[in-house]
Amino acid sequence: HGFARLGISAAARKGDIQARYFVDPEVRADPYPFYDRIREQGPLVRGSLMWATARHDVASAVLRSDAFGVGFSDRRLPAPVALLWRLGRRTTPIGPVDPPSMLVTDPPDHTRYRRLVAKVFTARAIEGLRPKIEQTAQELLSDLGPRFDLVERYAALLPVTVIADILGVPMAMRRQFLDWGTMAAPTLDLGLTFRQYRRTEIGIRRSNAWMRGHFERLRARPGDDLLSQLVHLEGEQLTDDELLATAGLLLAAGFETTVNLLGTGAALLMTHPDELGKLRDDPGRWRGAVEEMLRYDSPVQNTARVCQRPVEIAGVRLQPGHVVVPMLGGANRDPAVFDDPGRFDVTRPNARDHLSFSGGVHYCLGAALARLEGEIGLKALFDRHPGLVIDGTPRRRRTRVLRGYASLPVAAPVTV
Ligand code: HEM
Repeated sequence: HGFARLGISAAARKGDIQARYFVDPEVRADPYPFYDRIREQGPLVRGSLMWATARHDVASAVLRSDAFGVGFSDRRLPAPVALLWRLGRRTTPIGPVDPPSMLVTDPPDHTRYRRLVAKVFTARAIEGLRPKIEQTAQELLSDLGPRFDLVERYAALLPVTVIADILGVPMAMRRQFLDWGTMAAPTLDLGLTFRQYRRTEIGIRRSNAWMRGHFERLRARPGDDLLSQLVHLEGEQLTDDELLATAGLLLAAGFETTVNLLGTGAALLMTHPDELGKLRDDPGRWRGAVEEMLRYDSPVQNTARVCQRPVEIAGVRLQPGHVVVPMLGGANRDPAVFDDPGRFDVTRPNARDHLSFSGGVHYCLGAALARLEGEIGLKALFDRHPGLVIDGTPRRRRTRVLRGYASLPVAAPVTV
């Protein structure tokens, strides 16, 4: 991350428009006008470090094309970078965004690995979590007074509790687990300072040390959680390193992203009371509303792919090593796909066509769970507090890939 940041900062200083995307505080505060500019410049826009697209069709094509990889294989990197990369891999702990994490693994390894994890992460298993998510949401809501920080007291707690259930983390370890997750989660973002990076590493090391022992306990005495099933797969198995990376990825990926969905979703409904009214009139609309929240202000704003072989995309010839940034948040505002894309409309018929969960082989494995948590979490919140209002100044996270609120002070004048 550090090296990438150095390159990006230098390019931004030289006026590179895409590099500015990652460092400019104004763009970070509101990236949508920036995406519009990129989209107007063309389907695939070249910067000094990478190509970018804010077009829905082009972003989808890149994500789905097998000419692109996630690029962490050192085969395609320039020799000095590859050397640093290999050295780094030897000294850093296995984290959510380090190999063998599936997020940064290309087929055919990715195919095998994801297939094994998907065996336990089934639609039925996710749906089976519904009663527990509902119960957790109600418990968290019962603890709140008339004024509270919605992120700190609710949005940040629901997803991590669900992940702890999935991973079979015992009650007594929950607090500790939350702290490690909080430390490790920023690893999903770009441009960490060295101090932040150190902190994520410490969180990952501590959680890994505990996790290795946890795998042993689950092997001896399985629980009814999904991780127990994963350590007890019949036939082909995941290695301990793959289990560690998976547990870390579930924690990190299911952590801040879903927190952002809950925070952003709540803020959108509080600032669009007519839309909230539509949900009150017809609770069957909640599912679509969550899609519109994901589309309108995506918790993950961008990703990157590295070209693996010569390929033509949108009339542009790309060569191996070229980096393309599909701007997911920008694709979600493409007027060619979404009418009046800057309008938040919970009844939008095609909201689900957003790219917030990416596309192709890395399509979010937790999408069904995220949707369920969004729907249950937000519905429970507004059922309990129909008159919830923003009460103070919301503060955005300083992250670049992830987008959401760090703090959202609210008041709940009417409690039922
Ligand atoms: C991958 C978004 C919640 C697990 C991804 C990717 C995106 C994403 C954009 C792909 C990145 C890329 O293509 O480079 C989100 C959003 C969420 C969310 C917006 C919440 C609103 C979750 C949850 C879990 C999860 C709750 C699991 C508990 C994963 C995993 C991958 C992934 C395992 C890697 C899949 C692969 O590489 O094959 N997510 N995610 N995510 N997500 Fe999520």
